[in-house]
Amino acid sequence: MRGVRSVIRRMTTCKYSSSTVIEDLEHFAKPYSEVPGPKPIPVLGNTWRFFPLIGEYKIEDVAEISKSLYLEYGKIAKMSGLMGRPDLLFVFDADEAEKVFRSEGDTPYRPSMPCIVKYKHQIRADFFGDLPGVIGVHGENWRIFRTKVQKPALQLSVVKKYITPIQEVTDNFIQRMLDMRNEESEMPADFDNEIHKWSLECIGRVALDVRLGCLEPNLPPNSEPQNIIDCAKFALRNVAILELKAPYWRYFPTPTWKKYVSNMDFFREVCMKYINKSLTKLKSKNVNEDELSLLERILAKEKDPKIACIFALDLILVGIDTISMATCSMLYQLATRQHIQEKLHEELVRIIPNPEAPITAAMLDRMPYLRAFIKEVFRLYSTVIGNGRVLQNDTTLCGYRIPKGVQLVFPSIVTGSMPEYVSDPETFRPERWMKLEKGENDGYIHPFASLPYGYGARMCLGRRFADLEMQILIAKLIRSYKLEYLHEPLEYKVTFMYAPEGELKFKMTKRE
Ligand code: HEM
Repeated sequence: MRGVRSVIRRMTTCKYSSSTVIEDLEHFAKPYSEVPGPKPIPVLGNTWRFFPLIGEYKIEDVAEISKSLYLEYGKIAKMSGLMGRPDLLFVFDADEAEKVFRSEGDTPYRPSMPCIVKYKHQIRADFFGDLPGVIGVHGENWRIFRTKVQKPALQLSVVKKYITPIQEVTDNFIQRMLDMRNEESEMPADFDNEIHKWSLECIGRVALDVRLGCLEPNLPPNSEPQNIIDCAKFALRNVAILELKAPYWRYFPTPTWKKYVSNMDFFREVCMKYINKSLTKLKSKNVNEDELSLLERILAKEKDPKIACIFALDLILVGIDTISMATCSMLYQLATRQHIQEKLHEELVRIIPNPEAPITAAMLDRMPYLRAFIKEVFRLYSTVIGNGRVLQNDTTLCGYRIPKGVQLVFPSIVTGSMPEYVSDPETFRPERWMKLEKGENDGYIHPFASLPYGYGARMCLGRRFADLEMQILIAKLIRSYKLEYLHEPLEYKVTFMYAPEGELKFKMTKRE
C-alpha cells in the first residue's frame, strides 16, 4: 500500500513520465496466485462444483454464478482447477475489457469450444486441412480464412439482398404461428422449438442458398429437414455439457461425444451436398458479381469449394442457437412489456402504413426504436453471457499480474447493468440507445459494458444477418399482431445461451 501511495505521490508531483508510472504500477501489482476465487479441492479442483447433487453450480445457472462471483470477490475472480482446462478469470471491469480488446493484435484468440477444435483438428483433420474455418481456429490460419470470407459476410449491399428471402421465410413462419394457435390464441408449450426451426430455415437461406424445408408441418421422422432439426438441437446445446459438466470425452470417446461427432459429420455432408449444387448452378451462369449471393461470391473467388463448405458449416454451427435464443428473449420481453410493444407498434405503423407491403431496406433504416429495443434486450439479458480471450502477453489487470495463456471472461451480463458503467441500469429504456445514436446526452453507457456481438477483428461474422433476421421477424409480427404472455413469469437460464426457460405460450391476436 505504501508503494502505491508513493507512486500516486510521484504522479502528482509530475516528476515521472506516464510510462514510468505504468511500469511502477505494474511493479506493485499483486501476483496471479493472489487473485481471489472459489478454492479448488485436490483431484476434483472446481469441476465438482458442476456435478449433480454435490455441486453448487449448474450449467443453466452460469449467469447467476458469474453474478455471484462478482458479488463475492469483486471485479476480478479466478475459477481454477477445472478438469482438463485452464483457469477461467472473470473480469467485471469495462475499462480493463477495453484495454484488453484494444490492444489485441490482428489474431485475437477466443478460447472457444474444445470439442470443435478436436473435431476439426484431429477427428476430421483430413477434411479440414490447413484452413479449417474461423470457429475453433487461431493464429495465421484463422486470419487467412477470415480474410477470405469477411468482406461478403459483412458488406451491407450483400446483406440487403437477403431482405426478401428472409421475409419469405418469416411470412411462412408467421402463417405457421397462426395455424398453431389454440382456442385461447396461444402458442404451443414447445414454441421455442418452432423459433429454432425458423432460425434454421433462415440460416439455410443465408449459408447454403436453399430452403431446407424445416417449417413444413408434419415432417416425416427420417426426412432431411427433421434430421437437421434434431441434429441442430443436439449439436450446440450439448457443447456446454461436454465442456463443463462431463469433460471425460477428452480421455475416451463417451456416448455423448460419439453422438456429437456423428452430428457434425451429418452437417458437413448436408453442407457439401448443397454447395455442390450451388457450384453447378454457378457454372451455368454469367457471373455478374453484384448479383451473386454470399455463397456464390465465395465459390466464384475460391478455387476450392471446401472453403465455402467449411464457412457454411461455421455459420450454421454458431448461427442457429444464438439467433433462436435471442429471438425467444426478444419476443418474451415484448410480450411482457406492453408499453414498449405499443411504442414499437406506433413506429411500425408510421413506417409501414400498409401492413401487407413488403419491408424494404429503406423502411428498416427508419426504425430506430426497433434497433434500440434489440440493443436494450441484449444489454440486460445478454444472449451470449460474455466474451472470452486468451491473453497473448503478460498483462496487469485490476492490480494483478496476469500471465499470458490465462483465459479471460468478460461477462457483459454483469457489466451491462453495473451503475458505474450504465446510468439507471435497472430501467428497461430503449431510448438511451437512440439518444446515443444521435450523439445526444442521456446519461452514460460505457462502450465496453455491453458487447453482444463481441469486439474487434474477431467480432461476430453473422451480426448483420442476425440483426436483419430479428428486425424482420419483430417488425412483421408486431405490425399486425399483439403479443402477450399471460402466465407465471419465466426465469432466464443458460442452455448454452441465456434465454427465458419454460413454455413460451405467447398469445397472438390480430391488431385492428
Ligand atoms: C443474436 C445472435 C448472435 C449473437 C448474440 C452473436 C454473438 C457472437 C459473439 C459474442 C461472438 C464472438 C465475438 C468475439 O470474439 O469478439 C460471435 C462470433 C461469431 N458469430 Fe455470432 N452471434 C449471433 C448470431 C450469429 C449468426 C446468425 C451467425 C451466422 C450467420 C454468426 C456467426 C458468427 C461467427 C462465424 C463467429 C466467429 C467469428 C470469428 O471467430 O472470426 N453469429 N458471435
